[in-house]
Amino acid sequence: MLSYVIEGKNKIEGEVKASGSKNAALPIIATAILNPEPVTFYNIPDIEDTRITLKILKLLGCKVIMNSGKITISSKEMHNKIIPKDLMHKLRSTVVLAGAILGRFKEATFSYPGGCNIGKRPIDLHLKAFKDLGVEIEEKEDYIHCKAKKELIGTKIKLGFPSVGATENIILASVYCKGVTHILNAAKEPEIQDLAKCLNKMGAKVYGAGTSRITICGVKKLHKTDYKIMTDRIETGTLLCAAAITNGRVKIENANPENLLNVLYKLKEIGCKISITKNSIFLTAPKILKSTNIETMPYPGFPTDMQPIIGAVLTKAKGTSIIKENIFENRFKYALDLKKMGANIIFKEENAIEITGESKLKGETVSSADLRGGAALVLAGLSASGKTRVENAEYILRGYENLEKKLKKLGANIILEKVV
Ligand code: UD1
Repeated sequence: MLSYVIEGKNKIEGEVKASGSKNAALPIIATAILNPEPVTFYNIPDIEDTRITLKILKLLGCKVIMNSGKITISSKEMHNKIIPKDLMHKLRSTVVLAGAILGRFKEATFSYPGGCNIGKRPIDLHLKAFKDLGVEIEEKEDYIHCKAKKELIGTKIKLGFPSVGATENIILASVYCKGVTHILNAAKEPEIQDLAKCLNKMGAKVYGAGTSRITICGVKKLHKTDYKIMTDRIETGTLLCAAAITNGRVKIENANPENLLNVLYKLKEIGCKISITKNSIFLTAPKILKSTNIETMPYPGFPTDMQPIIGAVLTKAKGTSIIKENIFENRFKYALDLKKMGANIIFKEENAIEITGESKLKGETVSSADLRGGAALVLAGLSASGKTRVENAEYILRGYENLEKKLKKLGANIILEKVV
């Protein structure tokens, strides 16, 4: 078991570079399955989730060569169309590998994905979309077997909810479809735009990514390419919040402020001074933060992944804040641990919490229940008096590249401890 051990009260101050995006990297790695020509990716974060995804690709028969931040994948020799259950279960986004395998081979076998336990997270929208594309689906012995008669046939697919993963899966499955696929009520997240950009650079025809209507015109083949993936907007937001909660000041380089406008707006509202350039964000926190209300929404709304992080920050804000979570049912587990550290939080009906600041948090032993909830506890530890131990740090390592190193560079007293 791994734990972050933090000695709190140091201000987060200085400059740090944001890493590549976890949520863009995972579907973009899946494009290598679709494309039998070698593809090279830059800026893939070295985190547990990308390591597991690359491990699955190797098991499927892909050649993966890693060389200091550059990853080249060749799926020419790929033979296996079955994603092993144990690996499938390790993270949620393994589900997008299914769309890529289906797109390339017209058949795929996989099981229900795992990932953070932040809600029910079904994959009904993904499976219904595969059916709409002409795929027959049979569920047998814990596995979902998908097979198209001959080809996947382009069609109009209306999503009941703008699911990020389902939108990505439909795009991946449709790249070689016969005819044209239209996704209506598509998710608009920047990671989907990045996926479309990468695919189009390989020769795919994906139009409208970033809007609620995406059109994919089937192509016959893709070509060799290289692609640099976008910056992680949630990691950027987390580092900004680390400065906010400690009354510090930070400059995030390699950032993309355009993708984080709603978060920057809220940080301004609570009293932080923010200035941006095309690829950097500078934040100076005030002595006393102000409260605000937050409601999570699909992009461009306030991101659910930033909800626990801003939740930690609001424990230090003067006044009462309400946070309403609209995307996942079970994303407030971190709040119980914040309460243990001295935060004043009331659980409300309809998936909401009420936080009244300015709490003087004190160090405690707490435990990550999921990736972003765990990161929220690390931030709370940075601002608390005394020692905070955040157990189950494995969750956090799934999604943050060198978090400990980056926070140390910014002045935090934090170590990653292995408990044997
Ligand atoms: C992705 C992100 C995750 C982020 C989330 C919402 C990755 C790897 N993960 O997750 O970090 O928090 O988007 O921005 O990119 N739903 C269904 N049926 C489905 C699919 C989804 O009911 O078939 C529901 C989910 O239970 C949830 C909502 O739709 O309530 C949003 O889920 P979705 O957008 O699919 O999130 P993910 O792709 O899993």
